[in-house]
This record gives sequence, C-alpha cells and structure tokens, in this order.
Amino acid sequence: MPMESSGVVRRVRGGLPVLMVLALSCATAALSCAAGNRVMAADMPSSVVGYRTPVDVACLVDGRLVTANAAAGTVSLVDPERGPLDEIAVGARPTAVAASATGEVVASVREAGDLVVLGIDGDRLVERGRVHLGFEPWHAALSPDGARAYVPLSACGRLAVVDVAARRVVESIEVGKLPRFVAVAPDGGTIAVACSEGAAIVLVDADSLTVRDRAPFKGLNLGELAFAPDGATIYFAWTYDGGSHPSPGNIRRGWVTGSRLGRLRLPRGEDDEGGLEGLTLDVPGRAVGDVLGVEVLADGGTVLMTAGGSHELLRLATGDLPWTQISGLEVMDPRLAADGARFARLELGGRPLGMARDPHANRVWIANGLSDTVQAVAGSGAGVELAVVATVSVAALAGPADPAAELARRGEAIFHDARRSLDQWYSCHTCHYEGGGSTITFDTRNDGSIGTYKTVLPLWGVAETGPWTWHGWQTDLTQSLEKSLVESMQGPQPSADDVTALAAYLGTLRPPPSPFRRADGGLDTAAERGRALFASARAGCTTCHGGEHLTSGETYDVGLGRSGDRYPTFSPPSLLGVFRKTRLLHHGKARSLADVLTRFHGPEKVSGTPPLDPDEVADLVAYLESL
Ligand code: HEC
Ligand code: HEC
Repeated sequence: MPMESSGVVRRVRGGLPVLMVLALSCATAALSCAAGNRVMAADMPSSVVGYRTPVDVACLVDGRLVTANAAAGTVSLVDPERGPLDEIAVGARPTAVAASATGEVVASVREAGDLVVLGIDGDRLVERGRVHLGFEPWHAALSPDGARAYVPLSACGRLAVVDVAARRVVESIEVGKLPRFVAVAPDGGTIAVACSEGAAIVLVDADSLTVRDRAPFKGLNLGELAFAPDGATIYFAWTYDGGSHPSPGNIRRGWVTGSRLGRLRLPRGEDDEGGLEGLTLDVPGRAVGDVLGVEVLADGGTVLMTAGGSHELLRLATGDLPWTQISGLEVMDPRLAADGARFARLELGGRPLGMARDPHANRVWIANGLSDTVQAVAGSGAGVELAVVATVSVAALAGPADPAAELARRGEAIFHDARRSLDQWYSCHTCHYEGGGSTITFDTRNDGSIGTYKTVLPLWGVAETGPWTWHGWQTDLTQSLEKSLVESMQGPQPSADDVTALAAYLGTLRPPPSPFRRADGGLDTAAERGRALFASARAGCTTCHGGEHLTSGETYDVGLGRSGDRYPTFSPPSLLGVFRKTRLLHHGKARSLADVLTRFHGPEKVSGTPPLDPDEVADLVAYLESL
C-alpha cells in the first residue's frame, strides 16, 4: 500500500482541495503502515483539514459508526460519545459504507473504482484490502453473514458480487442503466437494486446470482432502498417526473418534480404495476426536496427518510398510508399531511443523506454532508416526538479558515438547497444530479421557446465552456446562474454574494475521471484509434470539439434544429465525462454514443464525409468513453 508522504496537497477530483499533512515520525511509520493510510487518530496530532462531507454512515455491532467522507476521500470511525476516533484515506470520493452484524465493514470508493475492506482494531480503522471494480461503484450492501458485498457499478449497469474474505469478484450481473443503490433482504435471499435510468427496481436472486424480476416505472434520482423486517416489502426513495415547465402553477400542482416514497410488495401481484405503489410526500406550500435515505425501524411500523434538499427527516407510520399507483397523487393526501401521528417531519439543517439503523436502540444515524456531522434521531410510533438525540462531528479538526473554500461551501449549500425554489420542491441538484446532468429532459423555457424539452447540461468546468446553454445564446455566466435561480427554480432574486458563492462552488466541480481508461490512465488501443480518427479530416470532429473541454466558443447548425427553436444554431457541449450520459444531444433522443454517431451526428451530417463504418463507430465510442 502506498504510503503518503508528509505535507502532500492532494486535490480530490470533484471535491475540495484537501491538505494532507501526515505528522508521522519514523517511530510511528511502521504502525501506520500496518494500519493503512492513517491520517488521524485520537491520540495523534490531527492531520486532515478541510471539509469531509459524510454522505453515508454504517453502524457497527459495538454501536460505533463509520462514515464515507466524499470530499475528503476518507472514512472516519466515530464514537457516539467520544467523537471522531480515527480517519483513514481510502481514495477519491468514497460514497458508501456498509457493516454486517458479523463485523465486516466495506466502503465503496467511486472515483477510485474500489471496494475497500476495512477492519476495526481498538480505536483504529485498518484497511484490510481492496478489490478494484472500476465503473463507479456507488453504494454497497453486505449479505447478513458478511461473506458477500453487493456493489452497483453505475457506469456499466452491473451489480458486482464480491467475496469479502477472498477479496475477489464472484459475479458481475447486468441489471440496467445507472444502478446506484442496493439493499439485501433480511434473509439474504434477495438483492434489490435501484436503477435511475429508465427507473426500475431490479430483484436479483442471491443463490443463482441472476435477475429474478424487474419493476419499471417513470421517475428519476432513485435513492436508497430498505426491506421491511419480514422481507416482504421494499421501500425506496425516488423523484417524480411531472413533465411540465417550471411555472408557479405547475410547481404547486406537483407537475414539475415531486418527492416520493415507493414500495414494492413481494411476491409481486398481478395488478398493472405488479406490486409497485407510490406515496406522495409534497405538502402544498411546504414540499419536500431531494429524498435519498430510507430506513425501516425494527418493528416494521415506521419508515424514516432523509430529504437533503429540504434539510429534514420524514417519518411515516406504515400501518395506514394512502398508497396509490406508483405515480399517483401529485400532492400529499391532505388527511395524511394533517395527521402528525402518521406523518412527521424534523428539521436537521445541512444536507442529510445516507442513513443507518442503530441495531441497539430505536433510532437512526444520519450522515449530514453539509454539516460534517452524524446525527441520531429517535422517535418512532404515534405520539412520540421526533428529536435529534445526538450530533457528532466526523472531523477532529475543522482546519484554518480558508475564505475560498468557505465561499465554495456556501455555494454548495445553495446548489443543494430546495428552499431556493418555490415552496421548496427541488434544487439545482434535482436536475443537475451531483453537478452533472439528468436522466430526463426538461422544458425550462431557458431560451424563451415553449415545448422544446432539453437534456440537462453538466456543470463540470462550466466557467470554461461558454457560451452557455444548448443554443449558446447566453454569454454571461452570472446572469445564467441568476436566471436558473429565478426561472428554473422560481425562487427569490438572489443576492450578488449568493451568485458569487454558487459560481465558486461550480468552479470546484471537475468532470468525473473516466472509468473506461486503463489502470495507468492511458487509452486502450481502440480508444487510441478513436482519438486519431476524431482528429482526422475523415471525421472532422476537432473542427468543433477542440481544446481541453472538446468544445468551441462558436455555435453551429448541425441539422438537429426543429421548428419551435428560438435560435438556429447549437453550442457543442464539453465532451468530458460524456460516458456518464444516458441521453445525449440537446433533445435527448440519442440513447448511447453509438446512437449519436450512427443516427444523428455522423460525419455525413457534420463534416460532409461518408458515414462511419461499424469499426470506426466502435473506435470513436471507445475514445469518447475515455474522456
Ligand atoms: C428543472 C430542472 C433544472 C433546474 C432546477 C436547474 N437547471 Fe440548470 N439547466 C437545466 C437544463 C434543461 C439546462 C439546459 C437548458 C438549455 O440549454 O436550454 C440547464 C442549463 C444550465 C446551465 C448552462 C450550462 C452550460 O454549460 O451551458 C447552467 C450554468 C445551469 N443550468 C445552472 C443551474 C443552477 C446553478 C441551478 C440551480 C440554481 C439550476 N441550473 C437549476 C435544468 C435545470
Ligand atoms: C460542425 C461542428 C461539429 C462537428 C464537426 C462535430 N460536432 Fe459534435 N456537436 C456539435 C454540436 C453543435 C453539438 C450539439 C448538437 C445538439 O445537441 O443539437 C454536438 C454534440 C455532440 C455530442 C453529444 C454530446 C452530448 O453531451 O450530448 C457528441 C458525443 C459529439 N458531438 C461528438 C462528435 C464527434 C465524434 C464528431 C466527429 C464525428 C463531432 N461531434 C463533430 C458540433 C459538431
């Protein structure tokens, strides 16, 4: 395992710069080597400064916690009473942690592409080994016996099944596009995966390791799933796609986006939606933004959910809920909204995300990404008040004041804040998921036209990719951000400081590193051929896609315009991170890179040269995926 040298400034892609000062003397170096990439321990001078951004938490058998700290690239061991005990570097963008009752602990490290097997040695975290999975491992779940880890690989549509002890991939199962979250049934027999493109809950049989069933519906941003204790019901968080443009009337009717709890009952019924049902969470005047975490308390009677956009925890008593068809009602049933015994909400601040049930107490732990804490919330059952019973920092050291980082952090809060939208229905993140794009198209009327739905442009490196919007009509990024807040969000006019902070945050977003590259970061031979073809007169791509972001400052008519368009030309989007897109081109009709090149945007359409042959398509796709 590589040792970090002292005083290294490590820039975490997509996150904030993290100063790693490893205060290791020669005497402690051996200990540190045995214990992994140690960066902090209670009895050592603390070494990681800066924001941690815990996005997930797992509860250990002894009641302590581990957190995945996405911005810092670390995992923390936290004692509910004593605070943070230890923190080790695991690689870029850890996004999930899971712990089994048998003591196994794993972390998914998205950008590094690794599943890290962790051990706990007293008050120390130890890296016991890692398995390279590639393709953006997102979430993770362990089988009840801790023997297997199930990891959705979002960039290749597969579920990796890992033998934890042998640190080996047992199977990789095709589940569908953009699988992000996963849960295992209490008896270990079924694995449920939430795929966000062409939304679906996919059930995998743990014995045969094959897909047993698939429950599709229309939605986006699927979040965590949780099995009820009897294993017969799966609850999951998701966002409804209303399809209408963001006007005050449409937003208030729930016709733009909505926050939902879904449930799937097993065995699946014969009805139209095969056991899928939905529950609308948006209360008129005070909606819910960006649901993500879901847990069912031990008695099965209470479901708890986090809503990062509206900074709260939701509690639902499962006994008597007005379930509807999966897309059902557009605002919450008024009787449920008024019934505090069945539906309660608790303000948490920050950005509450992943959750874990405390096996020893009737409470949940919540990773709060923007407050750098874990929070415990107790209160199940009618009449019991929901309350935060503990808030524990995951960071031993906040670090010296860094005005630039603080400004960007404020912008990060604005970006994820649904309260910036009318009645807190959604945030920038709802459409620009984690700063990127979306699986659906929106009619934001950005260009003043009506009914010209467009794909969401990712915001990585956005300051360098003007002019802005698909048509490239916007030449002032500050105005574009104001317009997003006031028109896309229908929120209040922002202050100049808010817009500066938002721009500072967007300035920290980097395209995700391509998981299609070789381990050394290089291109494989097909991608190399693709790169040469891309730059050749044969394909002519670099005429319009050049420079670091493979775009240009001009706009072009590439034959994709329609009669309702306000402007005749389009701006070539940056091609960095294009592997992540499931809908391409401004209209989103292209569903893969090959589709772009063969149906809409081949050299015969853009460069006046003959169409690509299948080998050329394969090479160009390999190159585009590597960007
Ligand atoms: C309802 C979905 C939605 C919401 C909410 C939303 N956007 Fe967008 N955003 C879009 C779509 C769709 C586009 C492409 C529009 C076009 O080009 O006509 C876009 C484009 C942009 C662009 C231009 C990017 C480029 O490369 O040209 C910026 C900047 C932007 N959004 C920032 C934001 C910010 C900041 C927020 C929150 C304040 C936000 N957006 C909220 C859907 C949304
Ligand atoms: C004449 C300028 C021009 C040329 C030449 C050109 N492009 Fe484009 N490209 C564009 C424009 C403009 C768009 C956006 C079009 C739209 O969505 O309406 C685009 C979009 C794309 C997209 C979709 C990106 C996304 O985020 O959806 C890909 C991929 C792409 N181009 C690849 C290529 C390749 C590969 C070549 C060479 C075969 C090429 N382009 C040649 C201008 C060009």
